[in-house]
Formats: sequence, C-alpha cells, structure tokens
Amino acid sequence: MLKSIQLATEVPGSKSRALAAEREAHIPRGVYQVTPVVVAHAEGAIITDVDDNTFIDFAGGIGVMNVGHSNARVVQALKEQLERFTHSCFHVNMYEPYIQLARRLNELTPGDFAKKTLFLNSGAEAVENAVKIARAYTGRPAVICFEHAFHGRSLLTMSLTSKIDPYKRGFGPFAPEIYRVPFPYCYRCPLGLGYPNCAVNCFSLVEQAFVKRVADDTVAAVIIEPVVGEGGFIVTPPEYMKKLRQLCDEKGILLIVDEIQTGFGRTGKLFAIEHYDVVPDLLVTAKSLAGGLPLSGATGRAEVMDAPQIGGLGGTYGGNPLACVAALAVLDVIEEQDLPGRAQQIGDQVKTRFQAMQERYPLIGDVRGLGAMRALELVADQETKTPAKEATGKVVQRCHRHGLILITAGTYGNVIRLLMPLAITDGQLAEGLDILEEALADVSEEMA
Ligand SMILES: Cc1ncc(COP(=O)(O)O)c(C=O)c1O
Repeated sequence: MLKSIQLATEVPGSKSRALAAEREAHIPRGVYQVTPVVVAHAEGAIITDVDDNTFIDFAGGIGVMNVGHSNARVVQALKEQLERFTHSCFHVNMYEPYIQLARRLNELTPGDFAKKTLFLNSGAEAVENAVKIARAYTGRPAVICFEHAFHGRSLLTMSLTSKIDPYKRGFGPFAPEIYRVPFPYCYRCPLGLGYPNCAVNCFSLVEQAFVKRVADDTVAAVIIEPVVGEGGFIVTPPEYMKKLRQLCDEKGILLIVDEIQTGFGRTGKLFAIEHYDVVPDLLVTAKSLAGGLPLSGATGRAEVMDAPQIGGLGGTYGGNPLACVAALAVLDVIEEQDLPGRAQQIGDQVKTRFQAMQERYPLIGDVRGLGAMRALELVADQETKTPAKEATGKVVQRCHRHGLILITAGTYGNVIRLLMPLAITDGQLAEGLDILEEALADVSEEMA
C-alpha cells in the first residue's frame, strides 16, 4: 500500500528553513513553534509543506480539525457565505447562521432545560464570558479552578491556568478571586492514594478550600475540563465529577465545563461531560466547533445567560458569519459521519497499541485517555515517576523528521498527546503509530 508520508527532502526542507529565518526576523519568539515546517496545503489528516513533503497529522492544529483539513462540506459552506457577506457585526445587523447555530448548540448540549448561546472568537474569550455571566447571575466574585488546568492566555484565563512556564512567568499581577485546588491526577495522586480504592478521597481537598481559602457564599463558579487537555490528558474520575455537581448544587455555585479541547466528538461522545451523567450550568466550546475558523461559544441555562444587562456581552467579530456557517457544516458532518463513534474506534486502536508499547518501553509511565483523546506520559524511572521531559522532546522531534506531526502536553512537559483529525483513515493511523513507536524505540535506546 502506498504510504501517506512522502518526504521529498530532509525535514525541514530549504523553503521551510528560509521562511523560518524570515519568521525569526519579524515575529516575536514568544509565539512558540512546534515543528520547523511551513504548510502549503492540507486535506483530511495529511499536511503538505512548502517543500512538497507530506506528513500525517496527529495534532489537528491542537484539536481543531476533528472533521479533517479542507473538509469539502465546510469549504462549500464558506464559499457560499463568502459570496453573500463576510461581516455585519451581530450587534448591528443580525444574521441567520448565528441564530441557527445557537439553536443547534442549545439542543445538542446536555441539559433538559431552556438554554442560550453566545458566540465569541477564541476559547479564552468564551471562558472569560462564562465567568462574567456566572458573576452577573450569582452576584459573587470568586472562581474555583484546578491545578494542571489550561483555560487560555488572556489576563483572566491565564490567571485560571495553572502552569507557570511558559504561560504565566513575567505576566502578573494576575486577576483576583481565583482559588486553585488539586486535580484528581490519579497517576500522581495528590494524596498518594490509588484509584479506585481511594474512593476519590481527594475530593476532600475541594471541600477544605471552603475552610482554608474562600468563603463558599462568595464563589460564583467552579470551572473544570472533563479531560484536562494542555495539562496532560488527565481524565476526571466519574465519581469526582458527580461530587462536584452535588457540591455546586448545595452551595449555589455554577458548574462551568470547559469543553474547548474535549468537544465535538473527540472523546467518543459529542461532549466529554456526557460520559459523566452530569449536567453543567455553562458549557464552553471552541477549537473543533468551526473546522479551523475562529469561533467559540458559551452555552448555558437561559436564566443564567440572561443575567448580564443588555449590551453587557459581545464583541465586534464574535460569531462572525463565515465562522458560523463553517460550524453548521461541522455539526452536519459530525452527525452524518458519526464522528463520536469514529473517535471511539480510533481511541480503541490507539489504546491497544499504546498498551503494547508500554510493555516494551519502560519510558512509558502511563497510558490514558478517553475516546480518541489519548496520551502517553513518559518517565525516567517507573518507581519515582520522574518526568522524562527531554526524552519526550526527542521523541516528538524524531517524529517530525520522519513525517509525523505530533505535540506534547503536561505540566511537566512529558506527555505525548494525540489530537488527530477524526477523518484519519485506519491506514494513516497505523502508519503514524508506527513512526511514533520507532521514535520511542530509538530514544529509549539512546537514553539507556
Ligand atoms: C481546555 C482549553 N480551554 C481554553 C483554551 C483556550 O483557547 P484559545 O487558545 O482558543 O483561546 C484551550 C486552548 O488550548 C483549551 O485547551
């Protein structure tokens, strides 16, 4: 069978190198660069660079391309909208795609109650707005968030984000009234216990926050990622999520679920929270919502969403018509092609391969994930679990040189995460996993 990866040059090729040099002259170094290649075009799960090298994409532009690059349905919807108009600002003149998309998300998100949706541009902006809305509704200022969380790079969302380097160093002072509690990171249990025998004892750390850190009647919301994304693909245990919902109900606190990375089929359900039998008050989306167009949403209980005064929410570009028609096409594709089902199949295949790799390479400390949101945590020593950050970087760089686009995650920079388009074929998936395994074998040997 013809391989998907075709390398015409060494990676990076001369055209990519020349553009990278120009990039260095004109773009700040703070804008991180994962791979050294420059994209020319992309389709499905394949990216072609300016030197004519083809790569299998296991990153999907950080979880944005669930329906695949250049999805025909999305492209067609965009072309048609482009001919009609590109912007009117929803505040000035309404347009149908915004209204239709809001209606669909209100129907598709969990919760058997009236909902409303607000559209914005980025994930960070949607999280900011969810917090604004929660504060307006409850009349309370505080927000509880978690260790290992990532919610964005704006002042408020950077303050909600956990990891210092590179996200927070030098960027303070941070927003006030944010209280961070330990996350149920079972591989590195904050209490040193083992799941499931622990009976999620670590939930007591949330309860203790109301004794030691913040008065319960000043807390507007708790924000949680059902599967922590940037922090290392850590899956919230089901019992923990239920307890969190219960606690929020008891104390009149809103539960905000950040589905920016987990949403739109990635975990085997349309939204990851559907694995939990828990209904949030507010659900935040972005990334794969609009197939690469900048769009984010905050969906929630109608009475909560209507708490801010008229004119209190919005922005010039939020819910841009091009982005909205792209999102409507994305929702059609997800439904018609059963992408959540496909994510489950992909996840099962990856899990089987990852478990086999774990037996072969002691570098792999943990294999985890939900649906197609799968990761490997690399450690220098299985006993001490010392994070193998350097080895992780080497594995990923070797993959890039051999035609696989791959990204890392984790507070300690030692997690390899998979966010391939769900449009990937079985052949491409297997080929990509082979490259990853070869890289793990090479680096294991080198580090031994
Ligand atoms: C869970 C989560 N929340 C929020 C964000 C921020 O989204 P954006 O980069 O679109 O602002 C991200 C981005 O990676 C994310 O993964």
